[in-house]
Amino acid sequence: MDSFDELLGRDEQAIMRLRSLYRQFGYKQYKMSRFEEYELYADNKTFLASGEIITFTGAGGKLMALRPDVTLSIVKNTKDDGKLKKLYYNENVFRHDGNGFKEQTQVGLECIGPIDINLMSEVLALAWRSLEELGGSPRLDISHMGYIGGLLKSVEMTAEQRSELLRRISSKNASELGALCNEYGFGGEFREKITALAALYDHYDDVAAELRRISVNEETDAALCELEELYRLLERSGLGRGINLDFSIVNDLSYYSGIIFHGFLEGIPVKILSGGRYDKLLRKFGNHAGAIGFAVYLDLLERLSPAGNQMISVALPKGRLGEKAYAIFEAAGYGCPDIHEQSRRLVFDSPENGVRYFWVKPSDVAIYVERGAADIGIVGKDILLEYSPDVYELLDLGIGKCRVCVAAEKGFSVTESEHTLRVATKFPNIARDYYGKQGRDIDVIGLNGSIELAPLLGLSDVIVDIVETGKTLLENNLEPIETIVDISARLISNKVSYKFNHEAISKMCSKIAENLSDCFGETFK
Ligand code: PRP
Repeated sequence: MDSFDELLGRDEQAIMRLRSLYRQFGYKQYKMSRFEEYELYADNKTFLASGEIITFTGAGGKLMALRPDVTLSIVKNTKDDGKLKKLYYNENVFRHDGNGFKEQTQVGLECIGPIDINLMSEVLALAWRSLEELGGSPRLDISHMGYIGGLLKSVEMTAEQRSELLRRISSKNASELGALCNEYGFGGEFREKITALAALYDHYDDVAAELRRISVNEETDAALCELEELYRLLERSGLGRGINLDFSIVNDLSYYSGIIFHGFLEGIPVKILSGGRYDKLLRKFGNHAGAIGFAVYLDLLERLSPAGNQMISVALPKGRLGEKAYAIFEAAGYGCPDIHEQSRRLVFDSPENGVRYFWVKPSDVAIYVERGAADIGIVGKDILLEYSPDVYELLDLGIGKCRVCVAAEKGFSVTESEHTLRVATKFPNIARDYYGKQGRDIDVIGLNGSIELAPLLGLSDVIVDIVETGKTLLENNLEPIETIVDISARLISNKVSYKFNHEAISKMCSKIAENLSDCFGETFK
């Protein structure tokens, strides 16, 4: 006869183990309804993982929602009575993942009340032990919104500039962080410090000196003291070595002010645990206590696979750009002679150089990398702007240079057009964003190629498309009207692969960057 454990699926076993772990530490189960008034989420949209929510009309005509989040319900129902509440939950939430709504199982815990450093260390230790309970090789990375927020406060900036910088920090995008600081007129010291902070990825002891150097004010000093104390406490409980600092983990500064953290298991290409200190969320509910918690996304466990081979896999875009990109890898010492053979093979291994190449359709590179089918990839900035994949953007390779432009038949005037502007494009998001910033409504006509035909046949007024030499426009009696953005090829990395293969990927990037600066001079230093 099967044992009780064998009768349970992997998810159920995990739930049982996590519940028992949290109970041992004095956490009480919190149960809640699947429905909430929609208002709760409408007032706190940026706290949610996705803005999409399933709504329905309840009794009395009230707009109700299928719960997309657990923390907000707990916070809403918790009184500020000065007592510490230690709660755990095992609930389903309804979230949109970009393709459709999914019902997801979450197990997590929340502490609300007076939160001290010992409790913070207990929560981090429980996050670590939760990952261990799920199996595989865990990793827990910590960031501190107080430290990031303090550094951002050291220069005067608008909310929009802050969110643009945060976006670049979260993708470890050093080249754009530098360019934005220059564009905004921030000093060289701030630019250097923020770029250095985004790049950090290591144990506290290995980056403490650098963090002291970057620290600029009382807020960053206080955050640093808290991190120091936390690491000492974690060390005392036998933890710490698998726990790195990574300031590319960022969250909304209006909800989070202290530590935030993400947990990973080798083989699962996205975070499986997410948590942090969210006192500012409580303030919005008139509650002046402290709060810290985390959630584990159990559905991801089905993606847990044994660690694969040790080669770094690289998605190259098929075509001329891919060939140029491969030449850069080869020059940096990552050659794979077989790749030159005339065949229809798509995968090429070079075990001696620890690298595997795939040829992928250029517009698919970011999908392979974001989903972890490739560790790194080479992709045009146009694709990154269009699809906004959650990846690290580590290097601007300076190849594949072109522009995304608005173009039309000679003599056409966008400003004089009296009807809603019809825009044909392969880049609907870039086009909407561009015209949205001008407050202009457009009718997007999505096409997959030969975009230049659209205005010629009266299908659209203008096109938003790539212009490299300008030859295609010229030969079709079209002309560029405005440049939306300059494009070049970028080296991107899956965020989790970057963490588990940190040494190999950062070595590869340094070698490539060295080679690029040898070829192109100062640009890449
Ligand atoms: C791209 C772009 C333009 C052309 C511009 O097309 O969509 O059509 O290149 O290059 P040029 O300025 O040097 O003339 P692509 O070759 O990708 O084919 P597509 O038309 O099928 O998208």
